[in-house]
Amino acid sequence: MCGIVGYIGNNDSKEILLKGLEKLEYRGYDSAGIAVKNENGIHVFKAKGRIADLRGIVNENVMAEIGIGHTRWATHGVPSMVNSHPHQSESGRFTLVHNGVIENYDLLKREYLADVRFESETDTEVIVQLVDKFAHEGFETLEAFRNTLKLLHGSYALALLDAEDNETIYVAKNKSPLLVGLGDGFNVVASDAMAMLQVTNQYVELMDKEIVIVAKDEVTIQNLAGETINRTPYTAELDASDIEKGTYPHYMLKEIDEQPAVLRKIIQAYQNDQGQLKIEEEIISAVKAADRIYIIAAGTSYHAGLVGKQFIENLAKVPVEVHISSEFGYNMPLLSERPLFIFISQSGETADSRAVLVQVKEMGYPALTITNVPGSTLSREADYTLLLHAGPEIAVASTKAYTAQLAVLGILAEVTAKSRGLEVSFDLIHELGLAANAMEVLCDSKEIIEVMAREFLSVTRNCFFIGRGIDFYVGLEGALKLKEISYIQAEGFAGGELKHGTIALIEEGTPVIALATQESVNLSIRGNVKEVVARGANPCIISMNGLNMDEDSFVIPEVHELLTPLISVIPLQLLAYYAALHRDCDVDKPRNLAKSVTVE
Ligand code: G6P
Repeated sequence: MCGIVGYIGNNDSKEILLKGLEKLEYRGYDSAGIAVKNENGIHVFKAKGRIADLRGIVNENVMAEIGIGHTRWATHGVPSMVNSHPHQSESGRFTLVHNGVIENYDLLKREYLADVRFESETDTEVIVQLVDKFAHEGFETLEAFRNTLKLLHGSYALALLDAEDNETIYVAKNKSPLLVGLGDGFNVVASDAMAMLQVTNQYVELMDKEIVIVAKDEVTIQNLAGETINRTPYTAELDASDIEKGTYPHYMLKEIDEQPAVLRKIIQAYQNDQGQLKIEEEIISAVKAADRIYIIAAGTSYHAGLVGKQFIENLAKVPVEVHISSEFGYNMPLLSERPLFIFISQSGETADSRAVLVQVKEMGYPALTITNVPGSTLSREADYTLLLHAGPEIAVASTKAYTAQLAVLGILAEVTAKSRGLEVSFDLIHELGLAANAMEVLCDSKEIIEVMAREFLSVTRNCFFIGRGIDFYVGLEGALKLKEISYIQAEGFAGGELKHGTIALIEEGTPVIALATQESVNLSIRGNVKEVVARGANPCIISMNGLNMDEDSFVIPEVHELLTPLISVIPLQLLAYYAALHRDCDVDKPRNLAKSVTVE
């Protein structure tokens, strides 16, 4: 995680860096810093907390046309001034920002830097001290940087300033994302194109183990052997308004409201001229060739995978296993003979998922990434990609990416089924269109849901979500949304499982949110609600029109039974949103979290 930026050009760099960091705050926000360099030397400003805090302490009078910046999600060392980046070498000559984790930092410290005095607890400081050590031994900065990189094990996106050089930002990357942006008379560095869209939409992608020498008029990419690499820039197809909140108080609310439009965009994007759903032939062939699909994902994307399993098994009749990426790599199940791996990741950068992708590619298995970010690491490294077309998702709590993931998984299941000659008993395009309409109705029900959030969640310490079958998986996502932004302890359970232990936690007034969108289990989930009510629970039943009963708190419009997760999740997203709002929580930037988790 963490986000980094850099600027070299003819303008004052401070505001460009600060604006860039604000756009990268989704990557971490427990401390931040910038280092800018002018004829008087390097000036470092750091603050614990948000970029807004950093803004408050940056000296307006320091003008500098070259600078680097960082927003931190702490891994090594608590969030504090000393641990925040940029870090400087003991001599003060080199200044560095880093995103990633250096696994062998302790060993490097002992082997190479025993006589160096360290300021911070971070792994990053080892890098900047090593560069200084090599420079001190007589190496030019580029060589010193290269020698250092050769010693590092782990992940890094780095930007380095040398106090003795006014012309260059030294940049390198391995596993962590990093781009160089090109301008007229200036160049920039950023973890993500969004950060520098204010100044350019022309970017150069960097590959692992590359070094880039960024000057204001020139960008030179080299590999670790020092050979120059030519790479054509691309235009970032992002609209600056996509990354603004507009009139919304929070990105999360904006992104919840965008769901019907995203769903319609997906229906368009995955349709051919004859009005049929389409997916590239080679992807469908890969799915058909597999005797089992392994879905690998984390967080919300894992929950989407659980629903995706139902879609694929129901329609395409291919067995699917869904695994948490951070577990899979260390505890690999017995694989089938012809597996296909599907990586689901909004960001396309999640390190846990990427670690599995590297493993399965080494084993020679095919991999498909379903992601919102074209050109992301998981997209580049997999054999195939399906895009979510959801537009940038900024709020840490994922909403529109989840429903987009469900839609794309549904389309993949349908196209595979048809290609296998299997009958699909409904028209998916039509049903997804109805689902988009139903989403709109739900997005217009905010006032009712706000009242529900007050009624069920304003004073509680904990909350349970129950459901059966596909509703259980949506309940897991509902619980994740609620806990991550409101800090109410929330857990999702299979309706029948609660009584095998967890029911002991039900007290007078404990909210239990039950989903009832599936006809086959409608009566049994209502039976489970009765069990908890008998023990004092405060039940909130969210049912689907046609299955509803008098005691229900909220009824969602009727959609095809298999597609209910696209719809039933919306009241849960809104419940979480209002519960967080009522508790004065920072909805878009919940504590301890980051949107893109690039450490394992
Ligand atoms: C982080 C985010 C979650 C997200 C998860 C997986 O934990 O806070 O919202 O679901 O990462 O991210 P991915 O980008 O791989 O979907």
